[in-house]
Amino acid sequence: MTQIRYGMVGGGPGSFIGGVHRAAAAVDGGYELVSGSFSSDPAKSQQTGEDLGLDGDRVYSEFYEMAAAEAAREDGIEAVVIVTPNHLHYEVAKVFLEAGIHVICDKPLTTSVDDADELVRLATERRLVFAVTYNYTGYPMVKEARERVSAGALGTLRKVVVEYSQGWLSTLLEAEGHKQAEWRGDPERAGSSLALGDIGTHAFNLMHYVTGLEVRRLFADLGTVVEGRALEDDAVVLLDLEDGVRGVMLVSQIATGERNQLLLRVYGSDAALHWSQEDPDRLRLVDSVGTETVLFRGGDVGPHATRATRLPGGHPEGFVEAFANIYGGAAAAIRGDDAVACSSESALDFPTVQDGALGVQFIDWAVQSDRSEGWVSMVAERSAKSSEAK
Ligand SMILES: NC(=O)c1ccc[n+]([C@@H]2O[C@H](COP(=O)([O-])OP(=O)(O)OC[C@H]3O[C@@H](n4cnc5c(N)ncnc54)[C@H](O)[C@@H]3O)[C@@H](O)[C@H]2O)c1
Repeated sequence: MTQIRYGMVGGGPGSFIGGVHRAAAAVDGGYELVSGSFSSDPAKSQQTGEDLGLDGDRVYSEFYEMAAAEAAREDGIEAVVIVTPNHLHYEVAKVFLEAGIHVICDKPLTTSVDDADELVRLATERRLVFAVTYNYTGYPMVKEARERVSAGALGTLRKVVVEYSQGWLSTLLEAEGHKQAEWRGDPERAGSSLALGDIGTHAFNLMHYVTGLEVRRLFADLGTVVEGRALEDDAVVLLDLEDGVRGVMLVSQIATGERNQLLLRVYGSDAALHWSQEDPDRLRLVDSVGTETVLFRGGDVGPHATRATRLPGGHPEGFVEAFANIYGGAAAAIRGDDAVACSSESALDFPTVQDGALGVQFIDWAVQSDRSEGWVSMVAERSAKSSEAK
């Protein structure tokens, strides 16, 4: 198996998620980091390249120079990983797609629906692989949950409750120069939303991945609890899902004491399932008479969860390995094994540019709903869009 040569944009000194991506790409040995433009500060970019053992000629001050130079080399990068603040995702992805390079981009895909649609168009037209790191769908027991739901284990779906609560923005951290909070609190760099763009979009993707349900309408109430903050730090979204399924989403970054409380509960006519990101190896099923079954990663679970597992049950796996499962799916697709990698039935499934665009659309609908203080019909918007496209 040859390694996929990749480069990274973002992920410089003191950054958060760039290092997680590098670790995830390395887990199964499918990728080799050979290039980067790691920071908007050229000296910091060079320093990061040196720390990572890269050839200095392949560390660039600007991402567009990197795209041109790498596309011109015979041994240039085959894929780029984008881990900059949100406002840059679109420009960076566009430049690399136009240079014929596959993309792995963190969420939210873009800060506008039009930009997201443009990336879908470009990736499709150029037949390039585009993964969006909605990493929670990489957990084995999330894959098991999806399998159980689609096999009808819960009966007729009735209600979904998804929550993503954090407490780290309980104070005005962005005013104190905190690196991650600073741009997340700035509408110019984060986009029109803070909490929904940062974590609500994960909750939405998780709900959609496990249940397969589309949203017909939504009603969002976005609130800013911390004084002086420019965007929302707390949200409740009511979801009117396909087939009359009712949904509630709770999202907060001011939930004091919470770390990464991502919880999914799905209720059907016969049973319910519960999954918690802070206890990811366990999937709890409860039937209508209250009998509880707890399934464990590495135990008697289906082939998708089993294939997404590396260590025997009881040896914890987690965040990095879930990311690595997305990297594994993207690698199969980049190598041309599209039939395997792009099938939703496959263990190598990964979130695509279309999933990323839906996540951006969700944020936009929620912001619209909050501003108009009313329900936003997603079905009407989507059918208008698809008839425009014809
Ligand atoms: N999937 C997840 O679980 C997850 C978790 C955290 C962050 N994210 C997403 O990842 C992205 C990065 O978040 P973060 O928390 O790591 O941010 P961060 O502020 O820690 O890091 C951003 C990095 O981008 C670099 N950068 C800024 N402008 C640049 C430019 N013009 N060229 C090259 N590099 C540039 C910065 O120097 C920094 O190194 C965001 O879009 C965020 O939403 C996803």
